[in-house]
Amino acid sequence: MGRTLKFNIFRFNPEDPASVPHMDAYFLEETDAMTLFIALNRIREEQDPSLMFDFMCRAGICGSCAMMINGKPDLACHTKTKALPNEITLMPLPVFKLVGDLSVDTGTWFRGMNEKVQSWVHTTRNFDPNAEEERMDNALADEIYELERCIECGCCVAACGRANMVPEGFMGAVAFNRIARFMMDPRDQRHNDQYFEVVGNDDGIFGCLGLLGCEDVCPKKIPLQDQLGMLRRKMGFSQVKHLFAKIMPGKKSA
Ligand code: SF4
Ligand code: SF4
Ligand code: FES
Repeated sequence: MGRTLKFNIFRFNPEDPASVPHMDAYFLEETDAMTLFIALNRIREEQDPSLMFDFMCRAGICGSCAMMINGKPDLACHTKTKALPNEITLMPLPVFKLVGDLSVDTGTWFRGMNEKVQSWVHTTRNFDPNAEEERMDNALADEIYELERCIECGCCVAACGRANMVPEGFMGAVAFNRIARFMMDPRDQRHNDQYFEVVGNDDGIFGCLGLLGCEDVCPKKIPLQDQLGMLRRKMGFSQVKHLFAKIMPGKKSA
């Protein structure tokens, strides 16, 4: 006989003036290979059609099902109940705007972040639609792809102490990962000082507390720590150049 699981689920509809934040309890018999995706759908179909949560791909690809699972951000579709105790507490991700219950609006936050870090190739070259596709060294393409694997789930943002303190401002490790990706790309003509203008501040790399909660929770295992370290070194050098230029405005730094 399988376990009976108890789900404590956060409930609140910000659109309903009569709604107050509270927890509801639901019970389910665990089945083989049950995921939180299966469990939540069964609860909604069999017990409470008003329960709000997000899923799209069910395969760890779209990033829409991230939530706090027993206090830790993770993807609900790839979390097996077998890996969890009998009692499971589900909360929406912090930092992002709550849509209702377990559903949050990550899209607006990510759009703002991508605009802030100017997440596109900057080049003065004109686009020629008839030109042959440009070749890129395989090893470099692999390195860029490694950072491109981010699914914008928001787990690293939810786990970040600084992003929780400054939800509207702090860019988060996911933004540093984006910058690192464009720094690697030979088609992007920006130089370090231009990247410094974007991330060389307290909302960027200098606001990061460096405790690396972000990397620990990334479901795609993106090497966020390496990108943080690399950016810190490069931006630190640019900061020294900026300070030097302020102290000795007439002199050119190396
Ligand atoms: S290392 Fe920086 S970005 Fe990562 S969780 Fe800590 S403060 Fe946030
Ligand atoms: S870096 Fe990882 S945890 Fe952060 S948004 Fe991308 S996939 Fe999610
Ligand atoms: S539903 Fe797409 S990542 Fe979980």
